[in-house]
Amino acid sequence: MQVRDLRNIRAAEVRLGPGLNLFVGRNAQGKTSLLEAAGLLARGRSFRTEHTEGLVRHGAPVGQVGGIVVRDERRTTLGVEIGPVRRRLRVDGRDASPRDYYGRLEVVVYSTDRLRVIKGSMRERRLYVDRAAAALWPSYRQALRDYERVLQQRNAALESGRADLEIWNERFVEIGARLRQRRSEYLRRLRTVLHRGFRPNEESYDIALGEGLDHPSEAAQQATLRAEIEARRSDERRARRSLAGPHRDAISIRVGDRDAGLDASSGQGRSALLALSLAALDLYREERGSPAVALLDDLDSELDEERTAVLCRDVSARGQALVSTAHPGWARRLGQGARVFRVADGQITPERASEGAMFVVPDQGIRRES
Ligand SMILES: Nc1ncnc2c1ncn2[C@@H]1O[C@H](COP(=O)(O)OP(=O)(O)O)[C@@H](O)[C@H]1O
Ligand SMILES: [Mg+2]
Repeated sequence: MQVRDLRNIRAAEVRLGPGLNLFVGRNAQGKTSLLEAAGLLARGRSFRTEHTEGLVRHGAPVGQVGGIVVRDERRTTLGVEIGPVRRRLRVDGRDASPRDYYGRLEVVVYSTDRLRVIKGSMRERRLYVDRAAAALWPSYRQALRDYERVLQQRNAALESGRADLEIWNERFVEIGARLRQRRSEYLRRLRTVLHRGFRPNEESYDIALGEGLDHPSEAAQQATLRAEIEARRSDERRARRSLAGPHRDAISIRVGDRDAGLDASSGQGRSALLALSLAALDLYREERGSPAVALLDDLDSELDEERTAVLCRDVSARGQALVSTAHPGWARRLGQGARVFRVADGQITPERASEGAMFVVPDQGIRRES
């Protein structure tokens, strides 16, 4: 993976190994930034912020990340460039549309920068779930796009008091119900994996669509959504926008029998987020038959050394992982079989010189550059 002018990283070439890659450094040296760059390469956006422009190193005109993905023996070079005006996505050196770009490299992220998924607004939760589900199922991405379009059109009809509102209502019910059905399907699968998965503190975790929304059939979803907009008819006239539908739905996350958004300590919040990320990773591998790349930032902030070691081995036995830590001793303990990199002042140096200067961010069938 090559990084240029992102956050405090001026220029880095990181030659990743196929299993565990450990990034070790003190605070504010660039560990999260490196993982963020890998996330940017996969998704075209930062996992830390919605304002991708903020990633560009202060004083630099543009920021870039590039990498090679090896899948089924085929190599693809991906690149993302972000600047003040626009973002460019490249596949094998040529400009690519988002549609062509996405899906070539998938990551699953755990970072305390994402605690807002647990503690923040419902919008954060919906985004989190929608992005994970869209990464898994292209049809989900399509359902999302369709819904955004119909929502805009229905809002415009409500806004201007147009007579064709009824027509938009029908489309809205049809497409909104499809998205809800897909969301509830994704969450059903995710929670199955979550329930049998990793429990950092022996607590149980749960995630589900808001009450009354968890129907497996599209027909039942349509009936529910139709009843909701009927019930909100006069409110919507007054507000002149859509007040019910998948763009407003709640997603509940629980630790034990308590609402994680309200009652969880920040430690429990981090544990819940880690458990969710690992479940998403497992689900992705089960459904796709190939792993997503795990980006686990400050993993040991939540776990003791032994559990961290077990978890790292576990995750990297199944696929590639980029893990950051501030504990050098910890890196030594996990060192065998892992590639270890030191991160200091935006510079990334492999622990062993032979690990050289090139890079790979692969998905499956990962091989070393020679
Ligand atoms: N756009 C930017 N340009 C330059 N430096 C930045 C930018 N954004 C953040 N930084 C700096 O990058 C440093 C590394 O941050 P981070 O990757 O979060 O460190 P770590 O995860 O190792 O604690 C911080 O000192 C931060 O102030
Ligand atoms: Mg960090």
